[in-house]
Amino acid sequence: MKKKTLGVGIIGGGFVARFHIRSWAGVRDADILGIYDPDKKRAEEAVGIVRKLNAGAARIYNSITDMVTDPKIDAIWICAPNFARIEVMEEIVHALEAGKGPLTGVCCEKPLGRNVKEARRMLELARRAKLLDGYLENQVFAPAVVRGRAIIWTRGATLTGRPYLARASEEHSGPHMPWFWEGSLQGGGVLNDMMCHSVEVARFMLTPPGAPRTVLTPTKVTAYAACLKWQNPEYARILRDQSGGKTDYLKRPAEDFARSLIEYRDEKGNIVAVETTTSWCYVGAGLRLSMELLGPEYALQINSLDAGLKVFFSRKVKGRAGEDLVEKQNAEVGLMPVVADEENEYGYTGENRHMVKSFLKGLRPSENFRDGLNVTELLMAAYMSAERDKTLAFPPPGLANFVPAVAKGTWNPKRA
Ligand SMILES: NC(=O)c1ccc[n+]([C@@H]2O[C@H](COP(=O)([O-])OP(=O)(O)OC[C@H]3O[C@@H](n4cnc5c(N)ncnc54)[C@H](O)[C@@H]3O)[C@@H](O)[C@H]2O)c1
Repeated sequence: MKKKTLGVGIIGGGFVARFHIRSWAGVRDADILGIYDPDKKRAEEAVGIVRKLNAGAARIYNSITDMVTDPKIDAIWICAPNFARIEVMEEIVHALEAGKGPLTGVCCEKPLGRNVKEARRMLELARRAKLLDGYLENQVFAPAVVRGRAIIWTRGATLTGRPYLARASEEHSGPHMPWFWEGSLQGGGVLNDMMCHSVEVARFMLTPPGAPRTVLTPTKVTAYAACLKWQNPEYARILRDQSGGKTDYLKRPAEDFARSLIEYRDEKGNIVAVETTTSWCYVGAGLRLSMELLGPEYALQINSLDAGLKVFFSRKVKGRAGEDLVEKQNAEVGLMPVVADEENEYGYTGENRHMVKSFLKGLRPSENFRDGLNVTELLMAAYMSAERDKTLAFPPPGLANFVPAVAKGTWNPKRA
């Protein structure tokens, strides 16, 4: 790729697209030139934010094919919902195969697919179209993770031995849009939606900087999933009302709490473990990301709500509900943590900087669709384990075509 500035088009102008747009203040050599969203209002709002933040001369495209056809667009960021992954990617690739415009790269938000079959299809389509592919797992670019991992490996691991346990958790009080709550549309419940972050960031911390992911081989998966809060009638009613009557957690719940324990072997055959917890029923100040990395003589810990900045509002400050202090904020009074630079601290800025730099150099990003596929394989093995209440050797037979019961609408722990 000879260009000095990458022209970026974003597909899907919703919640996560706004994080990407805001991160552009810290991204060089790329302009956001277009948004496509079937919801025109969403597209207009997203274009307005791009222009206000001076992130590029963005305009609205009427279709994905129009976006691919425009020679100004060099790369596409897929930020559409999970249920639209395959149709979006197929349209990109069909447009390219019809000779409509060169495209260097494509990035896709997590999870890469709702199951292994879909994730594999995404990878195959990217390969077929000879696209450089980036998997948007922001947490492996979060400054605390990158810096903490580098320090642990340089100091602790070099002198006393590799880290052997990583813990990662992501918890909040539940997603912002009804489609996330529907197993069939999203692919599962919180396990699919948020454990994708935790398994990957934990695997990343346990991998020596510069080494490929193949230094760790997953060998066993044990998982547990339950619906602890949102299947209770008063909360199921809230979901029903928010979705215009569509979401029915009394009949078709998804898990709002899940854990997994993944055993890996390193290149010397040593056991290395990953422990994850994810939840849509954590009511704290807001989104809480926590990570730990433990080795023979050291430990690392990160807690995103342990913010250096806190504000206090007395009960007389009766403001409107918002997300101005932290993502998935639950309150506006009392002592509240503020994540001052969310785009940066959660890793979006580092992620987009890396994707842009890779595409401009004609290189495959370090975090790519192969990683996205590997994450989906682990998540599906976790669903299998939770459904069977058993530890499974990895990869379990049948993984390639497995669809979790929650995605089929047949999972109901209360009924069982
Ligand atoms: N990295 C993260 O931490 C993170 C956070 C939130 C969401 N996500 C991921 O980003 C994706 C989008 O999530 P969101 O929170 O922005 O959802 P959202 O519902 O807020 O926004 C999705 C947008 O996509 C549009 N859309 C719907 N169908 C489409 C189609 N066929 N083609 C193009 N656009 C379409 C919708 O109109 C909407 O504006 C999901 O895959 C989600 O898992 C990642």
